[in-house]
Amino acid sequence: MSTKKKLKKIKRIAISTGGGDAPGLNAVIRAVALSGIKRGWEVYGIRDGFHGVLLPEQYHEEGGIVRMTREKVRGITHLGGTMLGTSNRNNPMRYPIEMPDGTIEEVDRTDEIVRALRLHHIDALISVGGDGSLAISDVLSKKGMRVIHVPKTIDNDLDKTDATFGFDTAVGFATESIDRLHSTAASHGRVMVVEVMGRYAGWIALHAGVAGSADAILIPEIPYDIRKVGKKIKDRDRMSRHYTIVVVAEGAKPAGGSVTIREHTIGKEERLGGIGEQVAHEIRSITDKETRVVVLGHLLRGGTPTALDRLRALRFGAAAVRALDDGQDGIMVALDPPRVKYVPISEAIGQMKYVPVDSDTVLTARDLGITFADADADID
Ligand code: F6P
Repeated sequence: MSTKKKLKKIKRIAISTGGGDAPGLNAVIRAVALSGIKRGWEVYGIRDGFHGVLLPEQYHEEGGIVRMTREKVRGITHLGGTMLGTSNRNNPMRYPIEMPDGTIEEVDRTDEIVRALRLHHIDALISVGGDGSLAISDVLSKKGMRVIHVPKTIDNDLDKTDATFGFDTAVGFATESIDRLHSTAASHGRVMVVEVMGRYAGWIALHAGVAGSADAILIPEIPYDIRKVGKKIKDRDRMSRHYTIVVVAEGAKPAGGSVTIREHTIGKEERLGGIGEQVAHEIRSITDKETRVVVLGHLLRGGTPTALDRLRALRFGAAAVRALDDGQDGIMVALDPPRVKYVPISEAIGQMKYVPVDSDTVLTARDLGITFADADADID
């Protein structure tokens, strides 16, 4: 499974957290630090993704790479965010540099990361992140760095792992939000459109929508026909249910249409968002009902991780250190219930995990009378 490199005895490892934060990152950091220290290794944390090694001057006397001691990681398991900081800008594989003529060019700075880590005598890197960070792990590994990747995202869209930490916390918060919206929607006889994160996959919308008893769920995997959402609202009105909850994944798209993009900046992925407003606008014109939009956005990424996410994160962190101790390299830790397993990074990159449209959760939703407003099928 592991790529064969000359693996010398480990004395010093580093951990970095990259991409959007997810509840559970601090738990991973604690597990890596304590498991490494237990083996007699020195553990270092890289600040703000890889900025700590690429822009060390920004970190003054504390440095971009900091020693992780037992004291440093005490009492952090339950804290959201990441104590190391993170970044989803300035991907080192496509780092934006301003040229003398004022234009921006993207350059590959991954060689510099490998050099800097060697300079600090780092024997192995544990990189925690989503698909962008996974691609960086792959390159660093191919350039000779010993790397173990820990998958992270609230979106649950990483392939080869049954789940990622952060997802359960996000779904829990979205569900509670939908629960709260039921009473105000019912009191006013309104339509509430709830937009949730998830990028190009509908996991958060699906799980929270079903758990929170939404009436319609729009996900990227099932292009929607807005007329079917309108029909659902009118049918409910006829049954004296004068309110409707519509959960929309940020990556949802109408049949024949495309995802709604809020922003595209150099060195960063496109930022999705705005579909909630669009859906609400169309609902108003079809049904003439008062419609409000709630965008949960970054609230889904904040807050204390659930017990399930803490446990997943702690298990992933400890498993990453065990993998290094066992001489593994170039692998990603993955959840394969009930166990944690390892898969080659090269097998995990480049593929996203989408909601299977015939999954039992989708079928359950349909059996409960929830519509996906399927554009290409004669179903509600
Ligand atoms: O991947 C996690 C995620 O929260 C997505 O669901 C969302 O589209 C994106 O990050 C938002 O990123 P930013 O931090 O740039 O707003």
